[in-house]
Amino acid sequence: MLGAASVPSTAAAHCCGDPRIAHSPDSRLSAQRPQGSLQGRSSTSNDAMILSALRTATREQHLRVERAVNLPARLRSRASFGSLLERFYGYYSPLEERLTALARAGQVPFDLQPRLKTTLLRQDLLALGRTPEQIATLPLCTELPSLRETADAMGCLYVLEGATLGGQIIRQAVSRQLGIEPDSGCAFFHSYGSRTHSQWSNFCSILADYGDRHPGAESQVITAATETFARLGSWIEGQPVTC
Ligand code: HEM
Repeated sequence: MLGAASVPSTAAAHCCGDPRIAHSPDSRLSAQRPQGSLQGRSSTSNDAMILSALRTATREQHLRVERAVNLPARLRSRASFGSLLERFYGYYSPLEERLTALARAGQVPFDLQPRLKTTLLRQDLLALGRTPEQIATLPLCTELPSLRETADAMGCLYVLEGATLGGQIIRQAVSRQLGIEPDSGCAFFHSYGSRTHSQWSNFCSILADYGDRHPGAESQVITAATETFARLGSWIEGQPVTC
């Protein structure tokens, strides 16, 4: 995903031995975009604008989350990888509950259910040896982004859906370094698997359509996305990596 030529050599610090993962200020923006994600869209149309505005506005927060995840340390052992999944569970579980409530209230303009990922996290934690009782007592984040209406949901979901892109790279690194596969503890990062880019493309179309219909909502979408990233960053930073 990250073309070597696109990563400034002075700034790139590759982690987990994968040259596609680099903490350069532009690592995400310089990454090859998934096939079809913005295909057929004019760069001047509103749909491209909302996506490009989201990417620009959240770039720093994405880097912060990458640093907080600290993949090289998380891939040192099954225990530290498991603790990362626990942290994601603690954020996704209450957040997806809120999104589900918004969807029930008709505030999410697509079928949210097949995109929810808490079940995958739970499945992974069970595969890595956690008991249902242990999962039930995991700490849950209470400092969540405020989600009141569709614009908030779209911004939040931009972050959660975008995470599946980097997730493909993480899945490969987890397989290579820990031998953990989607059916043995890495279902969350595998997520949509071979459908990842089509799912992303589909979400981008919905977001673009929403942006076209509600041009005045763009700043609210961006605020929700930034808040979703920021609160996740703080939540993950709150748990030191254990090996
Ligand atoms: C070590 C952790 C991570 C790495 C290495 C990583 C890497 C990447 C890469 C390479 C892309 C570009 C993919 C492509 O264009 O094909 C990307 C996009 C993205 N990632 Fe991450 N990511 C990480 C964690 C996360 C997390 C935890 C989230 C949010 C929960 C997230 C949200 C996003 C978003 C929103 C996009 C942008 C989609 C777009 O506008 O094109 N990432 N990430």
